[in-house]
Amino acid sequence: MEFKEVIFSRKSVRSFKNKAVPEEIINDMMEAARLSPSFQNKQCWRFVVVRDKNIIKELALRSGLVSKVNFFIKDAPLVIVACADPAKSGIMNEQDYYLVDTAIAFQQMMLTAWNYGIGSCWLAAFNEQKVREILEIPKKIRIVALSPFGYPKEKKTVYEKALKVFAGSKKRNTFNKIVCYDKWKF
Ligand SMILES: Cc1cc2nc3c(=O)[nH]c(=O)nc-3n(C[C@H](O)[C@H](O)[C@H](O)COP(=O)(O)O)c2cc1C
Repeated sequence: MEFKEVIFSRKSVRSFKNKAVPEEIINDMMEAARLSPSFQNKQCWRFVVVRDKNIIKELALRSGLVSKVNFFIKDAPLVIVACADPAKSGIMNEQDYYLVDTAIAFQQMMLTAWNYGIGSCWLAAFNEQKVREILEIPKKIRIVALSPFGYPKEKKTVYEKALKVFAGSKKRNTFNKIVCYDKWKF
């Protein structure tokens, strides 16, 4: 895909085909994250790549912040958990940059996947303690996000349709609402 097409066509995917993501693509996704910019180039991110079906099932059943809100990830052949070591990033203007660093890297990873036709969905509604337990992630590491990855299923699952209410509308604000020129004019 052209770069612009990758950015403009991206959307969250919550229904997946039962087809593995090839190793070379996973490697490219990791490379895209590895090359991301970061606070003082400290590269605080750490990624747990989960392909074990039993662990994915456990995450699907137990990772939801509310009940089984992440149940749809059960069909994904791959789940990646984006973690960070806050001690390896920094704070400026009272802003924690481990979140920014890891978000940039994870988004680069997601866009690289999309370039290969592989969908994903940023998940924030997870129970950090549960994910920590399942994946044996140490306490000093924060879990920033997780996402399923896989080839999109043409037909959306009932579960995905139901989740739309929680995920919010896909509508975007107009330019006027998000951009002003020269001085703050909102
Ligand atoms: C920080 C962040 C947190 C999100 N958390 C969730 C989530 O927990 N569950 C979910 O299904 N989608 C989640 N999403 C996906 C959004 O709902 C989705 O990006 C938004 O509705 C716009 O749709 P689109 O990605 O298809 O353009 C999250 C997205 C972001 C960026």
